[in-house]
Amino acid sequence: MNNLVITIDGPSGSGKGTTARGISKKLSLPHVDSGSIYRTVAYYLHGRDVSASDDEKIMQELNGFKMSYDTNNEVLLFDTNVEKHIRSRENSKYAFEYSRNPLIREFATKMQRELLQNGGILDGRDAGSVVAPDADLKIYLDCDVDERTRRRAKQHDITDAEEIAVLRREIIERDKADSDKGAASLHILPESVVVDTTGMSVDEQIDAVYQKALALMKI
Ligand code: DC
Repeated sequence: MNNLVITIDGPSGSGKGTTARGISKKLSLPHVDSGSIYRTVAYYLHGRDVSASDDEKIMQELNGFKMSYDTNNEVLLFDTNVEKHIRSRENSKYAFEYSRNPLIREFATKMQRELLQNGGILDGRDAGSVVAPDADLKIYLDCDVDERTRRRAKQHDITDAEEIAVLRREIIERDKADSDKGAASLHILPESVVVDTTGMSVDEQIDAVYQKALALMKI
């Protein structure tokens, strides 16, 4: 199937990125990581002292903004690799804040559609609803909040119980906010295939989605 588009939506820490990366390798299709766009825009605008509500300045700055990906799919802001910076916990908060601005959502949506021109695996929150409503397959990855907290703690090398409790609260807050973005809200679409990844290993998770994709391609 040419130009196959698979969307993978789900809450923070459900394993969208890992799954999308794994599927993209198996199917030799690009992985379009929408979060990386929101993260990079936020990192850039925050660094330029532009507030998330200053539409005029945001428009100006986005006109000259240039991000791309290196061969490892790591983000280049202009020509500098900013992968580590955009993934920090601090920048996650900025990404969350800036991603609520409709101008930024419009910009990120356009960029995702361009990256998907020849097909791809798109992970996000509004991938199946807003960015690629005509996708061939729409996956919704779910996962229990405690397991998502454990995954995030591991990712950021956090072992202190109090810090883990803070992380859990942040995840719950983000879930709430992700469900409150109007048309771009995170929700299960009638056509979504729901995969609950609680208790699954990374390989099992990738395989569960891969099997759905294979079934689709045989049609
Ligand atoms: O998926 P992620 O954790 O890398 O996303 C970073 C932030 O960007 C997160 O706070 C939600 C926001 N985001 C969004 O609003 N819409 C998307 N499609 C992807 C991310």
